Amino acid sequence: MSRVAYVNGRYTPHGAAAVHIEDRGFQFADSVYEVCEARDGEIVDVGRHLDRLERSLAELRMPAPMGRAALMTVLREVLRRNRVRDGSVYLQVTRGAAPRDFPFPKSARPTLVVTARARDRAEADRRADKGVAVVTHPDLRWARRDIKTTGLLPNVLAKQFARERGAFEAWLLDSEGFVTEGSSSNAWIVTADGKAVTRRADHDILRGVTRTTLIDVLRREGLTLEERAFTVAEAKAAREAFLTSATTIVTAIVSIDGARIGDGAPGAIARTLRAAFHAAAERTKI
Ligand code: PDD
Repeated sequence: MSRVAYVNGRYTPHGAAAVHIEDRGFQFADSVYEVCEARDGEIVDVGRHLDRLERSLAELRMPAPMGRAALMTVLREVLRRNRVRDGSVYLQVTRGAAPRDFPFPKSARPTLVVTARARDRAEADRRADKGVAVVTHPDLRWARRDIKTTGLLPNVLAKQFARERGAFEAWLLDSEGFVTEGSSSNAWIVTADGKAVTRRADHDILRGVTRTTLIDVLRREGLTLEERAFTVAEAKAAREAFLTSATTIVTAIVSIDGARIGDGAPGAIARTLRAAFHAAAERTKI
């Protein structure tokens, strides 16, 4: 079946979909995005993703390409036309195409691109059952990581660093050796006394939608949350470690820089949180 993408008002064959060479997303990464999970024919937590999109746009003073209801229609339509029931939907908004110049263009219409992708859920479940390895890497990003922009080169380099070392994810370290987050996920540990720890969502990290929903799950499960930074040394000695994102949900970490976490198998809390996640998430029919 051929894939379909949405670009600026048109549904086009994926292979032929294109934006202008002077699109500011292409030239300046003047552009924001979201990735939502699709599961069992529903979009997961789309309300929270669209809230974050609106916040990213507002922080960059970028106009929205269309209203929220229209955007929902496009997301659903792209998923439907690609027959995706399990996978993800990606949306990107740029400040539009204009002659290359740094200041905001006076008259450019925002670009909107939406794509969808099916994925093998069993494979992701197998990965979570086994647990993944992470390695650490300096956090080379800018000072506004709370805005979900497509300026992802430091993330790309860190992820590549991890993959070349046989690891699934890179955990990024600030100048004091504290973990900020993963290259495309939030970072968590579980302390010896069973508290879940993740960094406070200020300008240093992206406030993951999965992270936000997982905080609801923690409450439901009667677990304690600590929002604070932790060092690699603390993480290596932790009872458990895991990562969260729309594409990985909750995935246990079994080693950090080669050091085994816990007994080297996914921990009980990570497994419980993964199993409980979708009951707490908002789900919207495609
Ligand atoms: N990445 N931190 C970073 C740097 C991310 O890129 C992501 C998501 C997250 C987790 O956010 P959420 O729970 O809302 O997915 C945290 C997406 C999945 C991506 O870029 O593909």
